[in-house]
Amino acid sequence: MAKQAADGHEDRLDRILTLELARVTEAAAVAAARLRGHGDEKQADQAAVDAMRTELNNLPIEGKVVIGEGERDEAPMLYIGEEVGTKNGPAVDIALDPLEGTTICAKNQPNSIAVIAMAERGNLLYAPDVYMDKIAIGPGYKAGLIDIDAPVVANLEAVAREKGVKVSELTACIMDRPRHAKLIEEVRATGAAIRLIGDGDVAGVIHTTDPDMTGIDIYIGIGGAPEGVLAAAALRCIGGQMQGRLILDTPEKVARAAKMGIDDPRRSYTMEEMAKGDVIFSATGVTDGNMLDGVRFGRSSISTHTVVMRSSSKTVREIKAIHHDMEKFG
Ligand code: FBP
Repeated sequence: MAKQAADGHEDRLDRILTLELARVTEAAAVAAARLRGHGDEKQADQAAVDAMRTELNNLPIEGKVVIGEGERDEAPMLYIGEEVGTKNGPAVDIALDPLEGTTICAKNQPNSIAVIAMAERGNLLYAPDVYMDKIAIGPGYKAGLIDIDAPVVANLEAVAREKGVKVSELTACIMDRPRHAKLIEEVRATGAAIRLIGDGDVAGVIHTTDPDMTGIDIYIGIGGAPEGVLAAAALRCIGGQMQGRLILDTPEKVARAAKMGIDDPRRSYTMEEMAKGDVIFSATGVTDGNMLDGVRFGRSSISTHTVVMRSSSKTVREIKAIHHDMEKFG
């Protein structure tokens, strides 16, 4: 996202847009947090969508939603293909989830976030809303250490070896789903611990990037494909390794994927293939989490906690903002 300015210096648009993205996720997080713990997932999601869309439309971009709230006929706003922004700026693809972890937010449990990623047009995987098999680790490991096609024990042993610990000292994050019964059994058989999460695997993957803080070394298992692309975008910025494979287990899903340009239904993708080029990413906590605090409502201010980052510099910024313009947040 670099362009040449009139005086010849390189004007990095991703640099400017990164902070703008923080405003976008802050607005979505505040809107969702007002409905935190009220048991209504749809209402919280809708509030986040409305707020994110309004903020996005203020950005100087020619944006196209490629990972969004769903196909056009099922999502009235921020649907796949929707154009956003003032159209007075670079052509970018956008992956977003205004409220990642709708159930978590409705129950006021940890780790629901508002999240967005942006890259130059054509650089994010156009993934249909199907499941994706995923494996991810954080930075600091030698390239090619994990392999989505290898047995889980081999991946855990490789991570333990490189980390210099026993397998039994590792913790794997896995979604608590019946589909993972065999995977959970296999991981337990190695002696590794498991952090079972109810929802929110974008955060689950991001948590591998700071095991000292989160206690998670590796993410394994099946979650949403859109969430997979968002997580890959985050890891491109922080560092780490991730692979994903779409689960296209019916002819209908294969056809939907083909329409989005995916010809090989068995193909696995590296994180660089899911999110190419210069990528920028922002996430704001809705509920308290392992890395981000949730939104706090004070008498005359609102506090938010956001992480913004970009792949070109690998800068990771945490922004703790205190908003006094209460009207802006409705
Ligand atoms: P929502 O925010 O849409 O509720 O998704 C939450 C989530 O837990 C994702 O993090 C995850 O990728 C996906 O759902 C898993 O899907 P399922 O609940 O069908 O197992």
